Amino acid sequence: MYVAVMGYGTVGSGVVEVLNKNHESIVKRSTQDSLELKYILDLRDFPGDPNADKFIKDFNVILHDDDVKIVVETMGGLHPAFEFVSSLLAAGKSVVTSNKELVAAKGYELLSLAKAHNVNFLFEASVGGGIPIIRPITQCLAANEIDEIAGILNGTTNFILTMMIEKHMRFEDALRLAQDNGYAEKDPTADIAGQDACRKICILASLCFGKHVYPDAVYTEGITKIAARDVQYVQDLGGVIKLLGRAKRLENGQITAMVSPAVVMNGSQLASVRDVFNAILVRGDAIGDVVFYGKGAGKLPTASAVVADVIDCAKHVNRRKVFGWGPSAENYVADYKQQETALYIRVQVEDRNAALAAIEAQFGKVKLLSCEGAPDTELAFVTGKDTEQALLERLSAVNGSKAQSIIRVTDY
Ligand code: HSE
Repeated sequence: MYVAVMGYGTVGSGVVEVLNKNHESIVKRSTQDSLELKYILDLRDFPGDPNADKFIKDFNVILHDDDVKIVVETMGGLHPAFEFVSSLLAAGKSVVTSNKELVAAKGYELLSLAKAHNVNFLFEASVGGGIPIIRPITQCLAANEIDEIAGILNGTTNFILTMMIEKHMRFEDALRLAQDNGYAEKDPTADIAGQDACRKICILASLCFGKHVYPDAVYTEGITKIAARDVQYVQDLGGVIKLLGRAKRLENGQITAMVSPAVVMNGSQLASVRDVFNAILVRGDAIGDVVFYGKGAGKLPTASAVVADVIDCAKHVNRRKVFGWGPSAENYVADYKQQETALYIRVQVEDRNAALAAIEAQFGKVKLLSCEGAPDTELAFVTGKDTEQALLERLSAVNGSKAQSIIRVTDY
């Protein structure tokens, strides 16, 4: 059986490396007589690469080669990945992808196409890099109604936050290091502005709750506004700031979903997730909480998940692995501001005592936080729980203060 890889970047070259390195055991586990890499599609040249005989630049060579039964898409981006993958599925080839942008935007369409042509469309690597999460949700946790899912879903931002907290590194330097390590997206804005985590929570929410969740329905906030002082105030509270993707099933059939920085208290399993590691907490009605942890980005961890999918496709030729989700529904994602939460708020004030009185008049007794070296003209506190909308309305009624930072406090 033959395999082709489209896109020889960080992940694609990792896939080729793993396919070559562990060739013998991969073939054995695939239950096929052979599993050979036939083509690598990439428009760039790679002089001196040991796989020189496999490079092609024309997609049609793969599409029209009947011997190629499994194609790996590691090109990234929506176009032409979507057109290529659609054509391949329609031509009766199984496709494995690590491309979360593609799955988040077109997952329902591509799963339907795979179903219509009795082939597989697998994307374990699209969430959590090397962490097994798609298969565990669809298989091992299949007995549960999933109530909620929350995770540190972006390795780059978790790496940056860790470097800033522990090594006092500047944001730009930490980002450059993440790029050098092959963690970041081609355009790292997708990491730091939260879109990458958004795509991943969309895939998880679609899978857990059964209807396609599109990224534009999910409120998304990145890490660029977090100040060093917020990190310190939150330390005083006994927590850390993490970029979380979250989704929750509501009783009325809607869900909530969002990506934002969040305060996670030190006792939480999510608090100790450092560096490029990701962790995904799944709350099921039978299992309770279960956390999946591992390297969420990088060449070989991600290739590990891709190649496992290739093996699975090889084991299921002409047999579909039945999983996926249905189409989206109108107003399926509820307004996040109606969710109950507590908020960490940092405000700039003119008169400290007057401001504190005004804050407590709105919020009742609040927990004041301290931070070494903070100016007298600053107050940081944590509110009690209410809907976000109600808390923000109360904040806007506090005279003589200007909000500098607002971060949701979680109770995972
Ligand atoms: N840029 C992504 C991250 C890669 O940092 O998590 C893995 O999806």
